[in-house]
Amino acid sequence: MNAESDNTLRSNSDELRHLILGMRAAYARGENAMEYARQMAGTIGNNSVVATLIAYDLQAGSYVAGVRENPEANSRWCAQLAEILDPLLTNGGTLLEVGCGEATTLAGVVQRLTNTPSHALGLDISWSRCTEGQGWLAEKEVSARLFVADLFDIPLEDESVDVVYTSHSIEPNGGREEDAIRELMRVARRAVVLVEPIYELANENAQSRMRSHGYVRGLKETAERLGAKVNDYRLLDHISNPLNPSGLILIEKSGVTQEGVAPAWLCPLTHTPMSDLGDVFVSESSGLVYPVLRGIPLLRAEHGVVASKILG
Ligand SMILES: C[S@@+](CC[C@H](N)C(=O)[O-])C[C@H]1O[C@@H](n2cnc3c(N)ncnc32)[C@H](O)[C@@H]1O
Repeated sequence: MNAESDNTLRSNSDELRHLILGMRAAYARGENAMEYARQMAGTIGNNSVVATLIAYDLQAGSYVAGVRENPEANSRWCAQLAEILDPLLTNGGTLLEVGCGEATTLAGVVQRLTNTPSHALGLDISWSRCTEGQGWLAEKEVSARLFVADLFDIPLEDESVDVVYTSHSIEPNGGREEDAIRELMRVARRAVVLVEPIYELANENAQSRMRSHGYVRGLKETAERLGAKVNDYRLLDHISNPLNPSGLILIEKSGVTQEGVAPAWLCPLTHTPMSDLGDVFVSESSGLVYPVLRGIPLLRAEHGVVASKILG
């Protein structure tokens, strides 16, 4: 199984069975499940989307537990991000965290913004983490919509969200920097804020660790090659792991915030408009539907179901 061929759960079922069972067993032994997947695939420093999904899904619940144990660190992290995001938003604007995990960052950020978004959204490739996140948001009384999606194929229209940000979520997708940044820039109207480990500003030990984990590199250079205007580039003051130094790459676009306008959904397979009918998302022109599992919309291309008669 290699990074090119296994980006959906519909690839070779034998390989997939071995991967899932092997990663689960590795995790149960206290080992790094992603490292197990890299060894199985024979790839050094390269993570497939499926391995990333399984590894993060297995960890679901660990971030909420971490915040309960050390709320001060979460508080410092979220305050730092809110300070960066606030000037980019206006009251009633829209905000999306890509790779939101258990929404422990999203909840803290939204709570601290003075420019309150009318619509806050979070997507993650892992359903279990979105479910944990939904519980966390309810506990914190923060209103935000979470859904399962792949950051390389976001089910939202072009320029439909004012500010799109990440917090260490492009991180494990080394080698796909260009695809990731292009997709975030497609969806953002006003700004893309990348809070990611910055290889080029890291010391040698950190760089070596980042290479072995398959982390992203060259984000600023990639963004600029794509024509982005990078207005801020630096390491952050509050870094939780010096071996994974968090930095900021702020990309500003010329779009103007559209207050109170909900982001429009897009079918991830056919890229046609899609409506949220509550228990299902429907792309009328393609006849494709996407289910909602225990309140979390499943909006990856592989979740699509052909159901031409859904609307009668
Ligand atoms: C290090 S965690 C950070 C979570 C969250 N942003 C936070 O600050 O707590 C990285 C997250 O990115 C998500 N992720 C990685 N690759 C992704 C992809 N291709 N599409 C969507 N989410 C992805 C993982 O599932 C995981 O929840």
